[in-house]
Amino acid sequence: MKLQINSITDYHTSYRESIEDPAAFWASQARAFQWTKEWDAVLESDFTGGYNRWYMGGHLNITINCLDRHLEESSDKTAIVWEPNDPMQETRKLSYRELHSSVCQFANGLRANGIGKGDRVCFYMPMLPELVIGILACARIGAIHSVVFAGFSAASLADRIKDASCKMLICADYNIRGPKQIPVKSLVDEALSLGCECIEKVIVYRNTGGGIPWVNGRDYWWYDIIEGQAEECTPEIMDSEDPLFILYTSGSTGKPKGVVHTCGGYMVYTGYTFNNVFQFQPGEIHWCTADIGWITGHSYVIYGPLLNGATTLLFEGIPTYPDPSRFWKICEKHKVNIFYTAPTAIRALMAAGDEHTIGHDLSAIRVLGTVGEPINEEAWHWYNEKVGRGIAPVIDTWWQTETGGIMITPLPGITDTKPCFASYPLPGVQPILVDVNGNEIEGNNAEGLLCIKFPWPSIIRTTYGDHERCRQSYFSAFPGLYFTGDEARRDEDGRYRIIGRVDDVINVSGHRIGTAEIENAIDEHDNVVESAVVGYAHPIKGQGIYAYVILLHPVSDETALFKEINEKLVQYIGPIAKADEVMIVSGLPKTRSGKIMRRLLRKAAEKDYENLGDISTLLNPEIVEEIVEKSKLKP
Ligand code: PRX
Repeated sequence: MKLQINSITDYHTSYRESIEDPAAFWASQARAFQWTKEWDAVLESDFTGGYNRWYMGGHLNITINCLDRHLEESSDKTAIVWEPNDPMQETRKLSYRELHSSVCQFANGLRANGIGKGDRVCFYMPMLPELVIGILACARIGAIHSVVFAGFSAASLADRIKDASCKMLICADYNIRGPKQIPVKSLVDEALSLGCECIEKVIVYRNTGGGIPWVNGRDYWWYDIIEGQAEECTPEIMDSEDPLFILYTSGSTGKPKGVVHTCGGYMVYTGYTFNNVFQFQPGEIHWCTADIGWITGHSYVIYGPLLNGATTLLFEGIPTYPDPSRFWKICEKHKVNIFYTAPTAIRALMAAGDEHTIGHDLSAIRVLGTVGEPINEEAWHWYNEKVGRGIAPVIDTWWQTETGGIMITPLPGITDTKPCFASYPLPGVQPILVDVNGNEIEGNNAEGLLCIKFPWPSIIRTTYGDHERCRQSYFSAFPGLYFTGDEARRDEDGRYRIIGRVDDVINVSGHRIGTAEIENAIDEHDNVVESAVVGYAHPIKGQGIYAYVILLHPVSDETALFKEINEKLVQYIGPIAKADEVMIVSGLPKTRSGKIMRRLLRKAAEKDYENLGDISTLLNPEIVEEIVEKSKLKP
């Protein structure tokens, strides 16, 4: 793909052009792709109603751009390198031709099983090439994929299936992660027993071959679906604004939101960002360690790299199995050029000791990326020096499920890097800082709420089945602006530093979880009357989960209660939502209007007893002393 920004002058020129004439800028970016019919108009936007459309009237199929387009010149080039959990097991490689054939075959299988344009297909699968094949097969035939992170519980899976009325579910028999085997098919059966009547068929990929429960007439093996299917499949020609996928993410309320992305704009933006942000060079191996169950996996494990004809590495396991040198061994083995991971993984590997990076040949690494949460200075330097040998630039990329692709980031080798700063907006991205009243905070050396004042091609289109929620969540706080939910600082040179969320969302190990979701799960415990959850600084996870609970009856064994609360969290959400600390309290600090003062709870969780602020206006100021005293007793 051409159109790569290649100098600082080029960056400034592109940025200026993208602001002065966004339609012309984004039309030229879109022409790097193959459309079966060109668009009639580039964009139409109404931030008041939360409506944004791109490349209206344009026709395309994203898989033509991810696969077919590369067949002529690079059909033998490796599209996917799959590294298994078990280092003794063999690596799998799929060329662009093989990936194309497999996608077509599975797409034909889906069609033969009643799936067509607009049907929702849910995936609950580990990091296997078949997950990529299945996702692209949906895109091939215009079905909408909804991937649910395989670490979510059966209850969470059921909620997501029902919200999108998925017709089919695709899973593995077992997932393997580190030393554990997770019985996914059993979890699927449990989810389906929770009122998911919309699911007509379940397709099971045999991953381990272990025994699984089976429902005749509903469950089918993956290989039976592809049996006898042709390796060519006519792509469904999609309108630019037809949905490509739904991906659930957490917000301030208890119910996750189904973020909808559409075909044309998402393709242009992920292709554009992959090419520019990583300064991708043909022939390079790209490894994004994110799970495909999150937006980073969608955009930078699958779509961005494949749109650019890159080789994308897929890893089934975890960073610490069989030991904390696993990432570096894989980088060495496959001569990884672009490595993209989350600060939480960097901190965990840093804590494991330098001996694990030493002795691995990481010289192929050209760019190091981070995403998902703020990276602290120590981790940034460690990454830069121990992994990047002081040569490979660290790019701290800021974006969200709702933005579809990277928004603010340094450009490696082009713009400077500064620890903890996501730095500069990409051409086409117009960030602004506002105060709580929505007034723009101009000039540098400023801090405020981060908003975006102009649409970009992969901006969220809607929240599935409830557009009003989309409007409310992102476009109502400050009229005329997209509100990110984040607070940021702009330094003396205009670089952005992301401080964190200002809403009731916690970022645990880079995973976004709403406090309301966690509280709802904790409240399911018979002995819990009320709970309040806050995030607090955690050395590895970035933020940990601190739960304050009011009990119905006192307990003698607090450890047992703590365990039971975590069992509820695992049952209702998944292991990522386990609480790090639980404090039993007799009340929660509330305002006179009944709102919980989370700011106080956060301060107590972080043992920051200075500046508790004016507590005299609380309904129950006496409770603050109790909480502070109890917090002092915590380790
Ligand atoms: O708070 C920001 C944080 O992650 C949130 C978005 O989470 P999610 O939709 O799950 O997407 C994560 C991966 C794109 C943001 O609102 N965040 C993301 N990247 C950064 C970040 N915080 C600080 N620095 C970043 N680079």
